[in-house]
This record gives sequence, structure tokens and C-alpha cells, in this order.
Amino acid sequence: MTDVLIIIASTRSVRVGGAVGRWVEARVAASAGLEARIVDLRELDLPMMDEPKHPRLKDYTRQTTWQWSATVEAADAIVLVMPEYNHSFTAPLKNAIDYLHGEWAGKPIGMVSYGGISAGSRAVVALQPVLVNLGARLLPANVELAWVAESIVDGEFVATDRQDRAIAAMLAALAALAG
Ligand SMILES: Cc1cc2nc3c(=O)[nH]c(=O)nc-3n(C[C@H](O)[C@H](O)[C@H](O)COP(=O)(O)O)c2cc1C
Repeated sequence: MTDVLIIIASTRSVRVGGAVGRWVEARVAASAGLEARIVDLRELDLPMMDEPKHPRLKDYTRQTTWQWSATVEAADAIVLVMPEYNHSFTAPLKNAIDYLHGEWAGKPIGMVSYGGISAGSRAVVALQPVLVNLGARLLPANVELAWVAESIVDGEFVATDRQDRAIAAMLAALAALAG
């Protein structure tokens, strides 16, 4: 089984990130050979970066950092569920990334981005160099959801066939990358 960690990068109390995350979780669970695990950055509630040593030394002082480190380390692959804020990715996501270092190295990562007309694509492009710098292995094709709020019905994300096909293709590529 390939353990896929789904990271929800929006922490707002009113957000669509939870609904998109549940859709991704269901698609992962429906994929043969993949197992889903969700980490909600809202629940993880990391303080703003406050480790005295550079994370590459992996000499953390906080229990929460060790837990976060173990969670990322245990994943065979990662899917980031991420909105676009001001043409970029969210501050909580950057904070969560900055806490760790070697844990990201070699990790296969796919992104499910969402937003308005840009579908979060600018957030994806902004995040790519950050993850490349950490040695993560990124998929060439991600899933980008435009005008996401229009697809929320009774609190759940209702995907189109095209979107279901897009995530199936992305998860297949992610599984292949994870080996
Ligand atoms: C602070 C903020 C900035 C935003 N900036 C953008 C943006 O630059 N481009 C875009 O397409 N949507 C933008 N949006 C719209 C969000 O992508 C949309 O509200 C989305 O639902 C946010 O995800 P969330 O509800 O999971 O937090 C912005 C929303 C917020 C709250």
C-alpha cells in the first residue's frame, strides 16, 4: 500500500479546503493500492516557525515539530490541497514546510489547487521552487479547480467528470513516482 498524506493548507474557520480535502481523500481511498491520511494544518496548529536550529540538523525542541516530522516522514507520497491567496500559496503551508527539511527530500508531491479564475495555478507556480529547493519530486501535472466555491453543494465539493478524471490521472502518476 502507498500511504498518501493529504495536507489541507487552508486554516480559515470558513473555508472550502475541508470539502476539497474530503473529495481528494475519497478519490485516494477509491484508488487501488493507495491509502489516504489527512493532516489539516488548522488542527495541527503549528506556531509560527520557532525552532532555534536549522531544520536540516533535525534537532527539534518542540514535541509538535517531532510529530509533524514523523507524519511527513511516514508518507510515501503527498497531496497538497491548497487555495490561492494573493497570487501565491498560503502562509500556514509555508510555515509547515519551513519547520522541516530532510523530511521533504525525495518525497513525491502532487498539488490540488483551487481559487477563482486562475484555479490556484499561480500558487502552484510560486510553490514549485520552494519544494524543488527541498529536494521534493513534483508531478508535472496537477489538478487545478477554478471557481471552486460554485462547486460546493451542502458543504461538499461536487466534482465534474473532467475533475474526477484529472485526479485519477494525478494519483496514478503519484503512485508511479512513489514506486
Ligand atoms: C486572503 C485571500 C486572498 C485571495 N486571493 C486570491 C487570488 O489571488 N486568486 C484567486 O484566484 N483567488 C483568491 N482568493 C479566493 C480564494 O482562492 C477562495 O476564497 C478559496 O475559497 C479560498 O480557499 P479556502 O476557502 O479553503 O480558504 C483569495 C481569498 C482570500 C481569503
